[in-house]
Amino acid sequence: MSSTILERYQKVFEKDRELAQHAVQIFPDGVTHDSRHAEPFPIYIERADGSKKWGIGGKEFIDYWAGHGALLLGHNVPEIVEAVTKQMGHGTHYGACHPLELEWGSLVKELIPSAERVRFVSSGTEATLMAIRLARTYTGKNKILKFAGHFHGWHDSVILGANPPFEAPIPGIPKGVIDTTLICPPNDIDGVEKCLQTDSDIACIILEPTGSSFGLIPTNGEFLKQLREITHDYGVVLIFDEVISGFRVAPGGAQGYYQVTPDLTTLAKILAGGLPGGAVVGKKDIINLISIKEEEETQRGKKMPHPGTFNANPLSASAGIAMLNIVKTGVPHEQVNHTAAVLRKGLNEVIDQHGLDWAVYGEFSGLKFFIGHGVHELLAADFNPDEWDYRKLKGGSDSELVGSLRSGLLLNGIDISGGGGMAMAAHTEEDVKQTIAAFDQTIEWMKADGLLE
Ligand SMILES: Cc1ncc(COP(=O)(O)O)c(C=O)c1O
Repeated sequence: MSSTILERYQKVFEKDRELAQHAVQIFPDGVTHDSRHAEPFPIYIERADGSKKWGIGGKEFIDYWAGHGALLLGHNVPEIVEAVTKQMGHGTHYGACHPLELEWGSLVKELIPSAERVRFVSSGTEATLMAIRLARTYTGKNKILKFAGHFHGWHDSVILGANPPFEAPIPGIPKGVIDTTLICPPNDIDGVEKCLQTDSDIACIILEPTGSSFGLIPTNGEFLKQLREITHDYGVVLIFDEVISGFRVAPGGAQGYYQVTPDLTTLAKILAGGLPGGAVVGKKDIINLISIKEEEETQRGKKMPHPGTFNANPLSASAGIAMLNIVKTGVPHEQVNHTAAVLRKGLNEVIDQHGLDWAVYGEFSGLKFFIGHGVHELLAADFNPDEWDYRKLKGGSDSELVGSLRSGLLLNGIDISGGGGMAMAAHTEEDVKQTIAAFDQTIEWMKADGLLE
């Protein structure tokens, strides 16, 4: 009898298991990020280049994690490697202003339509934290309105409602924060209007302008336009969280693509070219609430403190400048969007050949897996996420199948999360072919394991 996916995994990734056994003595679950938790244990990567990563046993993987979305082009982009290597020799932290932050900030201002002013931070979580506090300071109001499933990092106000079950309280978050966080169903403009009509204490609306988790629950340009109008009418700050979509869907982010300009925008990931970094950009009047000089002049008592050891650190600035100079051309966006579209089509053909109730969907460079949705008559090629309840799209996949698919794909040389992944410009036609073949092979194995009919 041939071995199961689990047996193969234990054998092929034997060395990874040894590291994982050590890791649980150091880290909870042996991992350093919730989404790296894997059963029976995660694999370990030692090196990456272009579209590929190599494990500790030397096994090669085609990478669709794309650095959690921080990599648009691929690993070790020569321009970025050169810039960062040079900067290492010049120092990594001056504790001072430096010319690179100017160049970096100018590029952000040039590319992102809402960016009248820029402030660098160190991560996407810091960026949304800062944007929300700025909105509260600006309006003098307390509450935020966010959408179920939309992810904005892990600080108190925004982690609520990010994951299913969306209404559940999260341990450690004070009641006061829960009471000031309103969670609306995604894409429901009437629901938003009702909140704004009945509650005059709402400071801001924050959303991912390409929908929850980069389109897992998609949204659309029409909804963004409606939000722009309604927030304007009610004097509420509109925040686009473009930590993923910024520089990814277009050089000007989702706001450039949909031509809807928010009051504030949060950026990270691609912004810093694969190194840590983030930014809040937006209306001068709002961002300038951190200005010491303006406070001295106006005495309005609204100065918002904003320190941060690694704000605009020179290493991230050097990588970010190299990255944004490539983003500016618009060339990578066409490439990644095309690769993702070819992959979605090819993977859905495999799904339909096997007659499974699965689908791969997404927009731009996104690949979203919907595994085991329970409607067998539906063709994956015709799957339209807009026709599905958002609770099905986020958290609706069969977790046993997802785990087995992920393990099988790793064995077949593909590293992609159970929820899907992102295309990078480094992905080749050969990578795409190999990925589709690996998907087919994994489904065969899952059938042999009795997981699928
Ligand atoms: C849309 C969005 N906002 C915020 C964050 C948080 O960013 P970070 O992980 O850099 O704190 C993420 C991270 O994935 C994100 O996707």
